[in-house]
Amino acid sequence: MFGFVKHLFKLQFLFILAAVLAGLYRTEIKQFANRHAANYVDNADGETVSLQFKAANEAMLLTPAELSKYNGEDGQPIYLALLGSVFDVTRGIKHYGTGCSYNFFVGRDASVAFISGEFEEYDPQTADDVLSLKPNDLLGLANWKEFYEKEYIYKGKLIGRFYDEQGEPTTYHHKYLALFEQAQIAKAAVDEMRLKYPGCNIEWSEAKGTRVWCTTTSGDGKERAWTGYPRKLFSPGNTNFNCACVPESELDQIDTEGKAAHGDAMFKAYDNCSSRAKECFYRV
Ligand code: HEM
Repeated sequence: MFGFVKHLFKLQFLFILAAVLAGLYRTEIKQFANRHAANYVDNADGETVSLQFKAANEAMLLTPAELSKYNGEDGQPIYLALLGSVFDVTRGIKHYGTGCSYNFFVGRDASVAFISGEFEEYDPQTADDVLSLKPNDLLGLANWKEFYEKEYIYKGKLIGRFYDEQGEPTTYHHKYLALFEQAQIAKAAVDEMRLKYPGCNIEWSEAKGTRVWCTTTSGDGKERAWTGYPRKLFSPGNTNFNCACVPESELDQIDTEGKAAHGDAMFKAYDNCSSRAKECFYRV
């Protein structure tokens, strides 16, 4: 009996001790939890990430003046912008560093120069004004953007033509996207046309200029049953043309209407080249 009371007393003592210790540590535990919480936040996707991770990974929203400071000098990284998206290209310092071939692009959005190849004059009013570019050029710019997304680090958005102060796409941006979509549709149509009307053989000589002609393997190199006749093929919205081989059965319609039975692609006969000529010559 006495042993049982002693046991109970021991248990009671242990409970009291645990309660006192818990009381003492509560403040410590709370402080630790608070300290931990201060270093961690929820990101836009609702995940808890450290502040350092957030700073390194969250998209930046830069003004043109801020972007211009990321020029690789005084230990700064090298940034450039394309279609309003900012990339860290420090890894490509041999191209973008001071005095290097493509330093022109650094610290600014000079999207148009990716197409024009004009790296001398920088006019902030026009350097990123891409709406008057040709459809194929818009596709070319999108390829450059894909290149930077793949090869370099996306940092965020540039406030200006493509993004507003809240980082939302501007009306201009929406117009650009609509034109880009049209360019993609036009290219898909041309690709489809290319399957139907394969490319011509082409050669150039000083004496005769450019010569175009069709063979049963011209275009994609695959043998086909017909040879065809060379015609200029214009993709919608573009003034430049490619040479396409048109089967004889469609020649009359194409030559009178300028277009094939289906699709928007426009055909034109070569100047000074008769309707059934096997080859045509022209000078640019
Ligand atoms: C519209 C005209 C042009 C533009 C916008 C342009 C742009 C560029 C850019 C941005 C890079 C750096 C790519 C990177 O970050 O890795 C580059 C690299 C290069 N470009 Fe151009 N370029 C143009 C024309 C030319 C021409 C005409 C030549 C040749 C005569 C040329 C030769 C090169 C070479 C050799 C490299 C380096 C490739 C390497 O080391 O990986 N570029 N170009």
